[in-house]
Amino acid sequence: MAVHKLLLLPGDGIGVEVMAQVKRVVKWLDTQGLASFAIEEDLVGGAAYDDCGAPISEEAMTRAAEADAILLGAVGGPKWDGVPYALRPEAGLLRLRKDLHLFANLRPAICYPALADASSLKRELVEGLDVLIVRELTGGVYFGEPKTITNLSDGQKRAVDTQVYESYEIERIARVAFDLARTRRNSVVSSEKHNVMMSGVLWKEVVSSVHGADYPDVQLRHQLADSCAMQLVRAPKQFDVIVTDNLFGDILSDVAAMLTGSLGMLPSASLGPMEEVSGKRSALYEPVHGAAPDIAGKELANPIAMIGSLGMALRYSFGLGEIADRIDAAVAGALAKGYRTGDINAEGMTLVGTQGMGDAILAELERVN
Ligand code: IPM
Ligand code: MN
Repeated sequence: MAVHKLLLLPGDGIGVEVMAQVKRVVKWLDTQGLASFAIEEDLVGGAAYDDCGAPISEEAMTRAAEADAILLGAVGGPKWDGVPYALRPEAGLLRLRKDLHLFANLRPAICYPALADASSLKRELVEGLDVLIVRELTGGVYFGEPKTITNLSDGQKRAVDTQVYESYEIERIARVAFDLARTRRNSVVSSEKHNVMMSGVLWKEVVSSVHGADYPDVQLRHQLADSCAMQLVRAPKQFDVIVTDNLFGDILSDVAAMLTGSLGMLPSASLGPMEEVSGKRSALYEPVHGAAPDIAGKELANPIAMIGSLGMALRYSFGLGEIADRIDAAVAGALAKGYRTGDINAEGMTLVGTQGMGDAILAELERVN
């Protein structure tokens, strides 16, 4: 059996607690002989900063480059508010994304039937929701230069961030979105702000031309990002795949996450380009939620997004889609049995902590084994 090199980077806050549940699932898969892993673990974010003065060490970067897949918990927290900007916890995550060329961020938002009432929208609007946000992850305003604050002669200051996209970046993320749409409901909404941004004008132009040349069979609609946000909360089930830039994708995916009941439910995959010779691509999997310092260390966090991220790693990096399906089914089963962490709790349900949800999911895996 192939041995998969998996690097675990729990990071900060609830990242550590939810990763502990992933370790239990990984161990279970190993002992059942369903998959075989070589596991390494390292620090990222504030934890790495406390250890070595940088949000990720060179050694961890080397391990990340050598891994078949990386699982990351979360980074950040008020403890590191005062650290220099370049060394803040988030910089560790951004460096991983940039240096490993993880340009394609897939953020599926699926509403489990058992959770339709936990959504802030009405059940009929979200029940059966299955949207995939494809977010460009290595360009745009996150990385554009200049990125500065300068002092002006009159005592004022000026801050500059730069939104920059080159056509190849737009083209490759558009292809990812169209390819994925073909495996789903064959429809893509491309979202930008061409009414006020030149990068939006280019985005729209490139997406249209990729579509016309190679994907005429896929339905394509262009929608301004603000209008897309509005439609996401008005009638989210109209969407299949949404492709958008780094910043709009960050915002729209938080909206989509909340439709599913809780931010604690959403996994994500960040993929690099496919290497032609090996057929491999670098990949990092992480929950969409953050480090949630307010509930960290209290065993309150929902581990479902983190466990779902392991599922995505099995599916997209290791060719183990069937086992990923079993993990998804085990999560759905635990929810159907009424187990709930605080973020998704409702009347009549069984409130459990992080560990308790891990127990419930493992019990479901055992049951259907
Ligand atoms: C996310 C997060 C990150 C982002 C932060 C932690 C840098 O919000 O993955 O959505 O803005 O991309
Ligand atoms: Mn975000």
